[in-house]
Amino acid sequence: MPRCIAFHSYKGGTGKTTIACNLAAMLSLKGYNVSLLDLDVYAPSLHAYFDYSPKKWINDLLFENSDLNEIMVDMTSTLTRSASDKTKKIGRLLVGFSNPQKDEIYKLEGSIKTANANIQLLRRFVQLREDLISDYESDYVILDTSPGIRYWSINSLAVADVLFLTLKFGDLDIEGTIKMANDIYGSFTKFGSKSFLLLNLVSGYCIPRTYLLGSQSTNKSTSGVPAAEEKEGTTIEIQTFQNELGSNTFLSDQTKMDLISAIPCYCDIQFQKKEFLTVLQHPDHPFAKQLEQLAMTRQIVV
Ligand SMILES: Nc1ncnc2c1ncn2[C@@H]1O[C@H](COP(=O)(O)OP(=O)(O)OP(=O)(O)O)[C@@H](O)[C@H]1O
Ligand SMILES: [Mg+2]
Repeated sequence: MPRCIAFHSYKGGTGKTTIACNLAAMLSLKGYNVSLLDLDVYAPSLHAYFDYSPKKWINDLLFENSDLNEIMVDMTSTLTRSASDKTKKIGRLLVGFSNPQKDEIYKLEGSIKTANANIQLLRRFVQLREDLISDYESDYVILDTSPGIRYWSINSLAVADVLFLTLKFGDLDIEGTIKMANDIYGSFTKFGSKSFLLLNLVSGYCIPRTYLLGSQSTNKSTSGVPAAEEKEGTTIEIQTFQNELGSNTFLSDQTKMDLISAIPCYCDIQFQKKEFLTVLQHPDHPFAKQLEQLAMTRQIVV
């Protein structure tokens, strides 16, 4: 069973944070102890999903060696409130937030420029992972990172057992994703970690209205792959999805990574004013079902 899972991408906005925190909540609902860390230190956003502002941040641990107890916030109550079966065993969900204040971000950026501070910060980071696993008995440590080749993202990839390279379809810079996969991921997988492509925001669920002309209803499956349907509008939907899946082979070949999941774009999530944990608030939503499938893959749960 992998202990540490990192979400990364070449470009921003591919759904790393959304999938990381929903996966963390899903694994906790399944009974696992999970620690989720916001390592997107340049643009932290986990606090938005949990609607929480902690007193201490990961930054305080890295700089001041603050106690881990003060940094990791126990969010298990958010799970128990929404769990449908109250008798089911739920794992503990701990979250470490990153400070979004600009001074703190500058401080972190500045400190990595001196070799000594750099090594010290890295040691504390590696220790953080170890402590969460041994002292806090985390079955999983999930890391949300910044897009591209950034210092804390590379550190996160280095300490993770499983790397998810998240990308969205129609991305103009697939070339950049392929290059990054070849330049960087190979060096981690050489030392035993496993990396996978995770496609997100795939079209095929939310269909432009014009595609639906002549079709009264669409038949959507919960697996994320639209169910076969004869009507004209839906035929286009299926073709769009299949074209994209066809391109996946190209991506897998080019990156030498298998595709672990292809998650459709759900407009009802995309256009919400506020971020929320779909697996908790709408457990029957197809996105929640997709996340459940992802959580139960053998690459995550052995
Ligand atoms: N499958 C999906 N369907 C619909 N909306 C989604 C889906 N996945 C993510 N989103 C939405 O897309 C937006 C970007 O997602 P998110 O913030 O998770 O991306 P990110 O990769 O973490 O971005 P960044 O690189 O800026 O940190 C969010 O508003 C999120 O709610
Ligand atoms: Mg993010």
